[in-house]
Amino acid sequence: MDIAVIGAGYVGLITAAGLAETGHRVICVDDDLGKIEVLNAGGMPFYEPGLEGLVKRNRAAKRLEFISKIEDAVAQSPVTFICVGTPPLENGEADLSSVELVSRRISECARGYHLVIEKSTVPVQTGRRLQKHFSIYGNNPQFHFDVASNPEFLREGSGVEDFFHPDRIVVGVDSDEAASRLEEIYRPVLEQSFVCPVHENCEKRSRVPFVVTDINSAELIKHASNSFLAMKISFINMVADLCEAVGANAAQVAEAVGLDKRIGASFLRPGIGFGGSCFPKDIQAFARVGQGAGCDFALLREVERINQRRIAQFVDKLKNELWVLRGKRLGVWGLAFKPRTDDVRSSPALAIVRQLLAEGAVVRAYDPQAMKKAKAEIPEIEYCADAYEAARDAEALVALTEWEEFLELDLTRVRRLMARPLILDGRNMFSRDAVAALGFEYLDIGSGAHARKLPLGAS
Ligand SMILES: NC(=O)c1ccc[n+]([C@@H]2O[C@H](COP(=O)([O-])OP(=O)(O)OC[C@H]3O[C@@H](n4cnc5c(N)ncnc54)[C@H](O)[C@@H]3O)[C@@H](O)[C@H]2O)c1
Repeated sequence: MDIAVIGAGYVGLITAAGLAETGHRVICVDDDLGKIEVLNAGGMPFYEPGLEGLVKRNRAAKRLEFISKIEDAVAQSPVTFICVGTPPLENGEADLSSVELVSRRISECARGYHLVIEKSTVPVQTGRRLQKHFSIYGNNPQFHFDVASNPEFLREGSGVEDFFHPDRIVVGVDSDEAASRLEEIYRPVLEQSFVCPVHENCEKRSRVPFVVTDINSAELIKHASNSFLAMKISFINMVADLCEAVGANAAQVAEAVGLDKRIGASFLRPGIGFGGSCFPKDIQAFARVGQGAGCDFALLREVERINQRRIAQFVDKLKNELWVLRGKRLGVWGLAFKPRTDDVRSSPALAIVRQLLAEGAVVRAYDPQAMKKAKAEIPEIEYCADAYEAARDAEALVALTEWEEFLELDLTRVRRLMARPLILDGRNMFSRDAVAALGFEYLDIGSGAHARKLPLGAS
């Protein structure tokens, strides 16, 4: 099928390349001319494992092209995926101005039947608004349309894998035509019938669940999913705080809690909290939707509050060890909001670095992929060539993103390089016993090894 994808960001580019790989002819549009130039020159505008090869192969096969004019893509395709950004406004609501702008362009140039699919994360009832928009502005008499919601669940860092092996594909539609076109588009993924570009000997997998709902429900499924995952993270962080205070071990607690099949182990890892371009903005937007509908979403406000507090708590922990931070040389490992991406949007690591700078610390940082983007946000720190360099003469190392690379370091060498062998592990990525055996002082999140002595029966 001929498909237009608007937006060549993390979601748009992965979607465009994935659809091309499964046999469609895709035109991917972005109004950022620099991005289009980079892509047409064979480069990548951001780091995502496995994506570069996919884009190269499909461009060479003429199944994937990049342009900057929406009109030229929409005129050649009966289907358009909207994958533009929906960042937060000051009040927490999603900014839908890019979605609106793209819809305006589509209504100006679409001819015949056109299926408009919102893949950007949008508040419930956006599809309804799009339908109204098209019926007002779609002034070409031959233009008849369907709007569908197809929320995206990929995780940066494993986005390509998630495209080909999703847990489910959700489509919100209000016509059989829209549902059957979406099923046709995703058939190779649903049936897992493609030659897997991710795994060399890809195991045979069962059919991917294809969940067809009304449009409102599909939009809501996305916000509800992200809010639930964020809630799990804040929940375990709240428990971790208690573990530290009373002398319990949050890692052990989380492991045993997660073994309950009704709960599940993922997203139960204590740390410095969630970040990225999705969770923080999506829980805010969902809470605004709830508020607007007269529903009590105080739960999500609390999830957000717990998460925001992580930054100050972490810095306090460091101050507790180093007393005064002013003038102290600190090594930072990790700047991306999570491993395997260069994305630093709402990264807890950057929030911590900013706080350390405000305290007067001398910060020297290293991240395997995110330094260019971090530099644009925080130019005033020293960016190091590798993790060892960041450790040199440091009075403490703060580990903020759990890159696999950090686990493979020669920690004996790291210890020798440091002024004081102290590791403050914001992601609980190292083994306490292993680093202690090498002579490090080690503080993680949620271990009550340094518990305040509460009087027994204080509760
Ligand atoms: N990043 C994720 O992990 C992820 C996962 C699921 C859903 N989402 C959602 O998907 C959407 C996109 O997220 P992203 O991370 O890919 O954002 P992004 O910022 O990486 O990409 C958005 C792209 O859209 C382009 N764009 C904006 N306005 C445009 C216009 N008028 N015409 C053409 N191009 C335009 C931008 O230049 C940019 O390249 C958001 O709603 C986000 O919440 C993101």
